[in-house]
Amino acid sequence: DWSMAAYRDEAIARIREQVGDARVICGLSGGVDSSVTAILLHEAIGDQLTCVFVDHGLLRQGEAEEVVTLFRDTYNIPLVHAEEADRFVGALAGVTDPETKRKTIGRLFIEVFDEHAKGIEADFLAQGTLYPDVIESVSVSGGPSVTIKSHHNVGGLPERMKLKLVEPLRELFKDEVRALGRELGLPPAFVGRHPFPGPGLAIRIPGEITPERLEILRAADAIYLEEIRRAGLYDEIWQAFTVLLPVRSVGVMGDGRTYDQACALRAVTSVDGMTADVYPFTPAFLSRVAGRIVGEVRGINRVTYDITSKPPGTIEWE
Ligand code: XMP
Repeated sequence: DWSMAAYRDEAIARIREQVGDARVICGLSGGVDSSVTAILLHEAIGDQLTCVFVDHGLLRQGEAEEVVTLFRDTYNIPLVHAEEADRFVGALAGVTDPETKRKTIGRLFIEVFDEHAKGIEADFLAQGTLYPDVIESVSVSGGPSVTIKSHHNVGGLPERMKLKLVEPLRELFKDEVRALGRELGLPPAFVGRHPFPGPGLAIRIPGEITPERLEILRAADAIYLEEIRRAGLYDEIWQAFTVLLPVRSVGVMGDGRTYDQACALRAVTSVDGMTADVYPFTPAFLSRVAGRIVGEVRGINRVTYDITSKPPGTIEWE
């Protein structure tokens, strides 16, 4: 794509001009946006960049290993892997309010990032802020200035650490970020990954987050995504994930009665995440997923499909 090649060269030139020979830190989340930001920065300024991957223990199955392998081994980008699952999950014990979850995670994220960034002596912080992040946090549908959900990137960090921001994706929509990622040589499967929210699985567990509930959600989500990939549907879908519901219901299993948790499957199509339509799976596909989840995941005995578009729903449940 010639236009992305030109954009990439331009972005690299702008980064070099802005940063000079200063040091830059970049928070990696494992998502496409922060990854593309990091790789672009690395192309522009090489080892002046250090990435800090705050692993909050709220990622999906196998995700942390994937990020560490990609950055350390494939790209040779200096990476600090902060494994802080216990700290985050501990701080979230008893927290059920969605905004409190986000704020708790955001605060801890800054704390951890701060600890690891201390030795680096950076002047700049690189962030994968996209155009929709910029506008969604300013106004909603042309209405008054409201934030529907406090978006957790690393707000608050730059002032405290006296860091200047580098945000090379600020003008781009998601599909353009993906094109830029391909231009930078990121593996197609990585570039095509569905968006994943900063607060991770915490906002896909309405009610209290516990290590057990995280495990149950991870297992169900892995099955759902495996079936989506197997059916060749992954790339047609903007985002697909499982939500663990704070509901118990009665079921039958063999000769016995079960009284277990329920989960909801979510899948939407969208161009930018601002509006979304429900993905029209076939009934056969949904039954297959439901059968596998109830059969293979201990703790779930009921599966529902969320048929709400955005608006009036949001893509995530919290
Ligand atoms: P909603 O749920 O608001 O989500 O319709 C729109 C898009 O944003 C993602 N999302 C987040 N991303 N931090 C993020 O980095 C957040 O706190 C957050 N909340 C929602 C969501 O996954 C969807 O792609």
